Amino acid sequence: MKICVFPSAEQMSKAGQELILRELKEDPSLALGGATGNTPKLLYGLLAQAAESGQLDLSQRQIWFLDEYFGKDMYYKYAINFLHNKFPKGKGIAVKNIHVPNGMYYFESQIVHSEILDEVLKKNRDDYEMKGPEVLIKPGAKHPFLKQLRKDTKTYEKSLPLERVQILGIGREGHIGFNEVGTSDKSRTHLTVLADSTVEANAEDFEDGIVTRYAITQGSGSIMKAYLPILFANGVKKTEAVHGLLIGDNPASVLRKHPNTHVFITGDTLGEFKSADLDKLRKKYEVTGL
Ligand code: GLP
Repeated sequence: MKICVFPSAEQMSKAGQELILRELKEDPSLALGGATGNTPKLLYGLLAQAAESGQLDLSQRQIWFLDEYFGKDMYYKYAINFLHNKFPKGKGIAVKNIHVPNGMYYFESQIVHSEILDEVLKKNRDDYEMKGPEVLIKPGAKHPFLKQLRKDTKTYEKSLPLERVQILGIGREGHIGFNEVGTSDKSRTHLTVLADSTVEANAEDFEDGIVTRYAITQGSGSIMKAYLPILFANGVKKTEAVHGLLIGDNPASVLRKHPNTHVFITGDTLGEFKSADLDKLRKKYEVTGL
């Protein structure tokens, strides 16, 4: 694992841009893995700038996003906006090459929101089993929409290219994608129950007033298969999550087992780290900027 500490979010994102440009230049077939949230927005802006100046053309690349809220297409819209619309015409990722897990299901011509899903799950207990927050739909599931969901998550998982640079953010409780505390490190793309703290922290995402308590997410195991995971975090709100990732135990700490993980953080993110912890990190990993 490589840990790079930067004085500001701008410098962190610039370093991310440079690393990604280098990687993409070396391998024309390399795909991207996208994350949503505020943290990677600066990075996406810098990639768009590189496209403006002729250094980057993403029109032949594929991008695979981590997750989507259940009953919404919010992250899909985010993906189109930041990787296509904000790029100069013809240089961004083609809409057909932007992949986001499907969160929109219809039942009796209505969008299935999370309350309807609650009902369906209550009435069809034989169709799934719970493993922590993971809702694992069984191969023999009978409910048509659960059956479809299982099929879609399997297809998404199978399609994920290993040769991808996986951009990651981190939730305040240490989730990557929507792999909440209690999710298996080996999990694959699945339906998950969101933690209360996630629903609270992401309240601004539900501007349509419809809160969802479920999401579809790549699993921790799916993320670990990516050739190069780069996790970005900045600000004191992420200190605890980053501590868990680097030293403790949270869903993101699985990334310590990946030989090529890059952790890009700002200095303030390490605010409350003890100096003994920082020494440990220096001894164990390749650390720059500290
Ligand atoms: C959401 C997303 C994560 C993202 C996290 C952090 O929960 N599912 O993929 O990393 O938010 O978002 P932000 O960068 O806005 O702090």
